[in-house]
Amino acid sequence: MITVMVFFSVFLVLLPIFIFFCYEIKFNAVFQLNPEAKAVSKAALGTLLGGTGYFYGQSKISTPPSSNQKLGDNFISYWPAELYTAVPSQPFFPRGFLWDEGFHQLLIWHWDVHISLDIIGHWLDLMNIEGWIPREQILGAEALSKVPAEFVLQYPTDGNPPTLFLVLRDLMCSIKKNQFAATERNEISIFLDQAFIRLEAWFNWFNTTQSGKIASTYFWHGRDNATIRELNPKTLSSGLDDYPRASHPSEDECHLDLRCWM
Ligand SMILES: *[C@@H]1O[C@H](CO)[C@@H](O)[C@H](O)[C@H]1NC(C)=O
Ligand SMILES: *[C@@H]1O[C@H](CO)[C@@H](O)[C@H](O)[C@H]1NC(C)=O
Repeated sequence: MITVMVFFSVFLVLLPIFIFFCYEIKFNAVFQLNPEAKAVSKAALGTLLGGTGYFYGQSKISTPPSSNQKLGDNFISYWPAELYTAVPSQPFFPRGFLWDEGFHQLLIWHWDVHISLDIIGHWLDLMNIEGWIPREQILGAEALSKVPAEFVLQYPTDGNPPTLFLVLRDLMCSIKKNQFAATERNEISIFLDQAFIRLEAWFNWFNTTQSGKIASTYFWHGRDNATIRELNPKTLSSGLDDYPRASHPSEDECHLDLRCWM
């Protein structure tokens, strides 16, 4: 019995050391950084990977107001869905954010492209028939417990920057530069083939629902034109929440950042 306990204690002490060295070795192989940058980069990547989680539940989707509506009856539930995602912060934002994910995966794919494809695939599976993806994924009780009531509902009229395209572009460039082994190259190509129809639907959703009054202009929908609490109402759907825009939100706006995304 004692030998078993000693063995077990030694194992428990050695395991983190072993994991630490594995992380160190792989980190050095994947990222070539100078010593000052390395310490902070290792911590950042570790937090990002450690914050990656699996969620399951149903988003609440806002429905347009109607006359025969009962109180609290202003949403319908999205289908029960799962999401594998890297979250911005486990204690404060334990939920998936669409545009954050692109930036997370710009880093994670270098570490393990399979994790990235899995995560991007989960997001594309959340697209509805119109080509819209809910921006914040509040799936399950834990995620819901951290969201102020006014941010729970998702609006099918509002977008969020399609940053996942940045990752897919990165992957395609790396394939062209022969940076993947043959099997990985195949897996990525198959993924892109399968994803194409959804990526096209995503583009078309933006091109039709977020277009402006003048040809080839676009604007982020969803700004609050009735608020008396903000001099310059926020544009949460753009990701650049408080970037200064027209003081009086209207359909006459043209947003350069969305035009650039398009
Ligand atoms: C985007 O929308 C415009 C305006 O309706 C249309 O002319 C254009 O063909 C669309 N672009 C694509 C690539 O479908
Ligand atoms: C706000 O926008 C809605 C929808 O476009 C419009 O019906 C309403 O008149 C606008 N309100 C103000 C104060 O501009």
